[in-house]
Amino acid sequence: MGAKTLTILGSTGSIGRNTLDVAGRFPDRFQVHALAANNNVGLLREQIETYRPAVAVAYDEEAAERLRAENPRGGATAILSGMEGLLEAAGDARVEQVVSGMVGAVGLRPTYAAIDAGKQVAVANKETLVLAGELMVRRAGETGSMLLPMDSEHNAIFQCLAGDSAGALDHIVLTASGGPFRDLPLERFPEITLEQALDHPNWKMGPKITIDSATMMNKGLEVIEAHWLFGLPPERIRVLLHRQSIVHSLVTFVDGSVIAQLGLPDMRTPISYCLGYPERLSLELPRLNLAEVGRLDFEEISPKKYGCLFLALDALELGGGAPAALNGANEEVVAAYLNGAFPFLNISEMLHRVMAGLKAVLASNEAPPCLARIDTVDDALAADRWGREAAQRLIAN
Ligand SMILES: NC(=O)c1ccc[n+]([C@@H]2O[C@H](COP(=O)([O-])OP(=O)(O)OC[C@H]3O[C@@H](n4cnc5c(N)ncnc54)[C@H](OP(=O)(O)O)[C@@H]3O)[C@@H](O)[C@H]2O)c1
Repeated sequence: MGAKTLTILGSTGSIGRNTLDVAGRFPDRFQVHALAANNNVGLLREQIETYRPAVAVAYDEEAAERLRAENPRGGATAILSGMEGLLEAAGDARVEQVVSGMVGAVGLRPTYAAIDAGKQVAVANKETLVLAGELMVRRAGETGSMLLPMDSEHNAIFQCLAGDSAGALDHIVLTASGGPFRDLPLERFPEITLEQALDHPNWKMGPKITIDSATMMNKGLEVIEAHWLFGLPPERIRVLLHRQSIVHSLVTFVDGSVIAQLGLPDMRTPISYCLGYPERLSLELPRLNLAEVGRLDFEEISPKKYGCLFLALDALELGGGAPAALNGANEEVVAAYLNGAFPFLNISEMLHRVMAGLKAVLASNEAPPCLARIDTVDDALAADRWGREAAQRLIAN
């Protein structure tokens, strides 16, 4: 059996670097065909030299120009740019598995291109499933593309479900760490600094998902992601706060049996499960020692503290383009927050206002069709844009 060829979208990010760490441990099993990032030229060049891909993409044109000028590997790696470059890397006939590890809605077209081309797609980029989950799952069914959940919770569920029929499943439980403010009383939320919000207690991740974890929007996006990946209605997807991040998620079966997947919080475990699928890779990583962990706690989620989770559940209930609109608004608000535009509490406040506006528009006769229904990738991106514009108006004020 030859090496599995990979395209890694978002290779310079947290998911991308962990994926390369795992793939690099098995040079006989994996061959990196393409790497793609936005503008981190320094790291992309290093990765090109280490992993020797045939193709590298810098989405940012200027970054691609700089990379071409540096001429890594004497030109043996073709340097592409823009959305065209990402689509080519994702749909390349020589590639077997695409790791969708870019952050945000910009990953939608390339991820869809990989599905369209019938690839195995390891999905970390949950925003793409929030934008157009129905479309992606349907297209995967048509092209024979296999979607492998890379997000740790969804990967856990995927592992727990292995071997059981869909009829045996009662409901799933996604666990949530609660982020850095799980023990901070609500009245002290006005004091939260950006530095504290970026200091996740259990996971080291990129800045956007770290803020989403602090507001728990991340878990809301994950419920929507699970809805599409596992074909479950919202009432069969539950969320529990589990501060140790050891139980990555659980499945309850119709006979009352509960199966959970446990491990240390290290993304290389779910990543390796996706890369090696259907086999497990023998990974030398620190192992879970339950006696050392000592206890595993579970609590219900406080709606007061984590309002963003419930906004996402509302958007899922509304259906159509509502999740895409909320996701677009969230990306804008979080980007502005990361730039220091306003305090932490304003994130959920603004997103509540966007959702109120969205509900009002949907109740009127003036809603653009993309908010009611998503039939194409363009519809999903139009709904995303609606949410972004609504958020930008609030940010500007
Ligand atoms: N990190 C985790 O442990 C984790 C766990 C579960 C799910 N996820 C999901 O995985 C995704 C990535 O998260 P992350 O934490 O790895 O983010 P991150 O560390 O911020 O990395 C983002 C990656 O996306 C690339 N990127 C951004 N815009 C791009 C564009 N226009 N074209 C091409 N590449 C672009 C970045 O390239 P540059 O470096 O050049 O900007 C970088 O490689 C997110 O959807 C997140 O929700 C992450």
